[in-house]
Amino acid sequence: MYERDLARARARLQPPPPEPEPEPEPEPVRPSLAELARHFETDKWGQHRYAQHYQRHLEHLRDEPINLLEIGVGGYTDPTKGGESLRMWKAFLPRAQVFGLDLHEKSELEEDRITIFRADQSAVDSLRLVAEQIGRLDVVIDDGSHLSSHVRTSFETLFPLLDKAGIYAIEDLQTSYWPEFGGSEDPHDRGTSMALVKDLVDGLNYEEYVDPDYSPTYTDLHVTEVHAYHNLVLIQKGANSEGTRRRGILRDRYSNG
Ligand SMILES: C[S@@+](CC[C@H](N)C(=O)[O-])C[C@H]1O[C@@H](n2cnc3c(N)ncnc32)[C@H](O)[C@@H]1O
Repeated sequence: MYERDLARARARLQPPPPEPEPEPEPEPVRPSLAELARHFETDKWGQHRYAQHYQRHLEHLRDEPINLLEIGVGGYTDPTKGGESLRMWKAFLPRAQVFGLDLHEKSELEEDRITIFRADQSAVDSLRLVAEQIGRLDVVIDDGSHLSSHVRTSFETLFPLLDKAGIYAIEDLQTSYWPEFGGSEDPHDRGTSMALVKDLVDGLNYEEYVDPDYSPTYTDLHVTEVHAYHNLVLIQKGANSEGTRRRGILRDRYSNG
């Protein structure tokens, strides 16, 4: 009897079993960039297939307070038209400041976190001024005139001003093969926008060049990745200085006379 009472008293003294942990709220599913492109009606998804590539390369910046500049707001001479891609970037990057640059007046399209500059992407001084006003440049997208000379000037001006881990994208590179855009039907033409891209690919390996007197260019030293897709390239900035195997190869090649 005494034993049973003791067991009951012990059972009463046991702490109640812990309440099960509530199931964590499921993370809200965020729209993909392709969905946002469709929603805001930019041609980055549909007419072009760019959104999937941007998603892959910009995903890690999604919640960062970055500055993104897109050359080419859209709508051409109509001041009330365009801005579709700027609104898409604003939704995709909720902490970003989004900047647009267009040859034509587009200030009516400005809103919270969207600022638009009127400038010519082929004018070096104007580009420098815009970059200065923005401050740190994390991402630059060239979707402007698509003239090869403009694409090259914008890249040569803005890439050095990009943050040390920035990303530079160039769209609609098909125009590189079209003479009416200052491109060339000759894919090996040295003056086109695609020639610039191909030079960047060579530059990734500049440390392996045999010429001991070769002086690396700015892009040799500061481009670490070149992701080329159909009509689109994304260029990753960084320190391109992994080191070289050149000396060992040259020693082996010439050591036997
Ligand atoms: C294809 S639209 C941009 C579309 C927009 N980025 C989008 O995805 O919704 C091209 C824009 O580039 C602008 N543009 C053309 N030449 C330019 C130049 N030299 N400098 C700056 N913008 C230019 C045009 O006015 C036009 O609004």
